[in-house]
Amino acid sequence: MAILNWVPELETGIAEIDTQHKRILDYINRLYELRQTHDRAGLGEVISEMVDYTMSHFAFEESMIESAGYMFAGPHKRVHELFTRKVAEMQSRFDAGEDVATELHGMLSRWLFNHIRNEDHGYIDTVQTYLRMTAGHRDSEKKQLKDEVLRELESRSQKKGWFSRLFG
Ligand SMILES: [Fe+2]
Ligand SMILES: [Fe+2]
Repeated sequence: MAILNWVPELETGIAEIDTQHKRILDYINRLYELRQTHDRAGLGEVISEMVDYTMSHFAFEESMIESAGYMFAGPHKRVHELFTRKVAEMQSRFDAGEDVATELHGMLSRWLFNHIRNEDHGYIDTVQTYLRMTAGHRDSEKKQLKDEVLRELESRSQKKGWFSRLFG
């Protein structure tokens, strides 16, 4: 794997999310550029900045999909947690003096690409519908609108037919 480029299939159409994903991609690319330098301090800095940023992205995303009422918000959060644990393990190997940059880079690029393309893309419909239906409403009203959003999604899926097959 080399430098990663932003490709259209990574796009979620949700502005903050796309901005955050792009920034994570930049970190992965910085890690790629630094992986063969002997600048351990610089590398350590990029790694911990990237980990911090990714954690805050996860927190943002989790609270967004939860407030939108996404039905897989719980499992999505657990996938983030598993990944966080893997990254933390690698970070402590790095701290112990191991040369993990190439391995870490490979893992991050594969995992994040797949995660964005598959799992993150699963919430797009719910979040976009929620954002559209709650735009201009107060926070106190948004909670009430959540049921309407879910009903809207449900009726749309029933039209598609798979919802009833899966949950009926
Ligand atoms: Fe995610
Ligand atoms: Fe994400």
